[in-house]
Amino acid sequence: MLKEALKGVLSATEVSLLSSSFDVIGSIAILKIPDELKDKEDIIGDAILSHVKNVKTVLKQASEVGGEFRTRELKFVAGIENYETIYKESGCLFKVNVREVYFSPRLSTERERIAGLVHEDERILNMFAGIGTFSIIIAKQKRCVVVSVDKNAVAIELAKDSIKMNKKLLGEVTPIIGDASEYSSEHRSSFDRVLMPLPERADEFLPCAVESCKDGAMIHYYIHVPEEDFHQKGWISAHLDQFEIKGSKVEVKNWKKVREVGPRYIQAVADLKVSKFEG
Ligand SMILES: C[S@@+](CC[C@H](N)C(=O)[O-])C[C@H]1O[C@@H](n2cnc3c(N)ncnc32)[C@H](O)[C@@H]1O
Repeated sequence: MLKEALKGVLSATEVSLLSSSFDVIGSIAILKIPDELKDKEDIIGDAILSHVKNVKTVLKQASEVGGEFRTRELKFVAGIENYETIYKESGCLFKVNVREVYFSPRLSTERERIAGLVHEDERILNMFAGIGTFSIIIAKQKRCVVVSVDKNAVAIELAKDSIKMNKKLLGEVTPIIGDASEYSSEHRSSFDRVLMPLPERADEFLPCAVESCKDGAMIHYYIHVPEEDFHQKGWISAHLDQFEIKGSKVEVKNWKKVREVGPRYIQAVADLKVSKFEG
C-alpha cells in the first residue's frame, strides 16, 4: 500500500528499494529507509501519514536492536514528534514508549498461542517481560498469577500503567524490576510455566529458568537459529543436551517457527517439559 502511494512521487527504482512492510504501533509508524532514499524521507513520511489510518508520527530505524534492554535508535521523520503511544492487541491496551523499551507487534500470534496453553491457577514467570505484553494477554484470558520481570525500569513502569488500563483481567500480573537470573534463583521450584522471550541470550538463562520450575512445568524457550539448523531433525534436542542441568530433565514437546528475523535466520520457540528428580 505504501509502494502504491509512492508511485508517481518516487521513481520505480526508488520505490523498489523500500520494504513494503513496516510496523504500526498505536499512532506511530516505524520503518526502514535505505540510505539511497535519505533525501526522500519527508516524502515517504508524508505518504504514510496520509495513507495509513490513525498514524500521527513516522519514525525510521536508525540502528539495529542492541544493548541489554534490546532497544534501537529511532529518527523522527514526519508528523508529530512523539515516542509514546497506546497499542491494542488481543483485546488489551498497552502503553509503549518505542524509544525506551523493546516492543514488537510481530509477536502477536505467538502471544495468543501461549495464552491459549495456560491452565487456570497456574503460576507463571515471564523472565524478560518488557512492557508485559505476554503477561497481560495471559491474565486477560486465564485466572492465574504472572510474575513479570524486566531489568528495564521504564518497561516495568509502562507495564504498571497498562495493568491499570486493563480493568477486566482474570489473572493477576506482578511487575518486578530485576535481573531474571537472580529472581529465578531466589524462587526455586515455584512456577508451572516460564517464558524466556530473550532469544539472543536464551542459553545463558536456561539453567536458572529450569531452577525456577516445579516438577512438570513448561518452559517456552525462544532462540534465533539459522534456517538450516531449524529444519534439521533433532537439532534442538541435541542443542539442549549440551546443558547439564543438575536434578532435572528437559524434554522438547514442540519446536516451531515464530518469525523470520534475517536472511535465512529465524526466531523459533521450543516448548520444554521439565521433570525434576530432586528439590
Ligand atoms: C525481546 S525483549 C522482550 C519483549 C517482551 N517479551 C514483549 O513481548 O514485548 C527482552 C527484554 O529482556 C529484558 N532483559 C534483558 N536482560 C535481562 C535480565 N538479565 N533480566 C531481566 N530482564 C532482562 C530487556 O530489558 C527487554 O525488555
